[in-house]
Amino acid sequence: MSSASAEQATGPFGLPIDASLAADVRVGLDSVERVLLEAVQSEDPLLTQASKHLVEAGGKRFRPMLVLLAAQFGDPAAPGVVPAAVVVELTHLATLYHDDVMDEAPVRRGQPSANSRWTNTVAILTGDYLFARASDLLADLGPEAVRIQARAFARLVRGQIQETVGPAGDADPLKHYLQVMADKTGSLIAVSGQFGALLSGADQRIVDTVTSACEKIGVAFQLSDDILDIASEAEQSGKTPGTDLREGIRTLPMHHVLAGVGSGPDDARLRELLVADLTDDALHAEALRLLRAHPAMDRARADLRGWAEDARAELLTLPDIPARAALVGLCDYVVSRTG
Ligand code: IPE
Ligand code: IPE
Ligand code: MG
Ligand code: MG
Repeated sequence: MSSASAEQATGPFGLPIDASLAADVRVGLDSVERVLLEAVQSEDPLLTQASKHLVEAGGKRFRPMLVLLAAQFGDPAAPGVVPAAVVVELTHLATLYHDDVMDEAPVRRGQPSANSRWTNTVAILTGDYLFARASDLLADLGPEAVRIQARAFARLVRGQIQETVGPAGDADPLKHYLQVMADKTGSLIAVSGQFGALLSGADQRIVDTVTSACEKIGVAFQLSDDILDIASEAEQSGKTPGTDLREGIRTLPMHHVLAGVGSGPDDARLRELLVADLTDDALHAEALRLLRAHPAMDRARADLRGWAEDARAELLTLPDIPARAALVGLCDYVVSRTG
């Protein structure tokens, strides 16, 4: 970020952000880091070490950022704002510990995942501990905040289990996939915006609009993550490419291939691979190579742009303050990170 004397600064995520807002957000994010590290201390050294492992590995802090930006529609210095940002990051972090166990993922945030550095048991218990710490902070934010987070968390779990189970025989697989996106990722990203607006005392209409727009940003965010799982290298994502393929999790580009979107010389082979067991390294590499080159990737990117556009249109009904421009910038960021 540039100095406060400039009118425009570049904030996190390359946001075209007003300089005084940039300074506000920077102070907010610093407080979030401090409270986050305090929150994960435990009397047990292993629990502290395993919890700090991913906090210190980095991460984009996308959800805390949304809380802080949404709080600009009310009083951004209201006492619940920073704790709410910590709550959403702790909740997110807890789901990552559990997700990496379920997805058997070896790398997270550019570091060995907790399950691979320690064991599944340690990773699961650390995730549970982080949920408990989030609940503790949440208690001070009042019963409405507790209920909002509990319901989002229930949706998130439902999304994860629906992803695991897959669509029923007669269900539309694409519709099922998009519902999973909204539930497993849109839910908590929506709550991030909702908490910021609500706890800063913004008008109810603003709270509702921010919540709805952030849910769309959340769907777009997960679509971009799924595209990156195929298209990016580990250095870019901090994760192992092709994890969804290996785990048999069907994401948007794969749905498009199976539905016959676009065509290429290797269509039949790719379709055959997408319904096969891809735990074999050679088959996995072949599927990843063919999928990367398939026109279904561009179609998925176009879908992603559509979700980001819908989010942007909704954000533009909010009062025209610098945080609105920053939130709109996040829609661009979600699209641009997939290249
Ligand atoms: C990863 O989330 C899991 C998804 C919901 C896509 P992030 O991409 O926000 O992960 P970090 O926090 O930056 O590591
Ligand atoms: C993570 O989903 C979503 C949640 C943690 C709720 P993914 O499994 O798609 O995310 P990554 O790619 O491992 O981050
Ligand atoms: Mg995963
Ligand atoms: Mg997963």
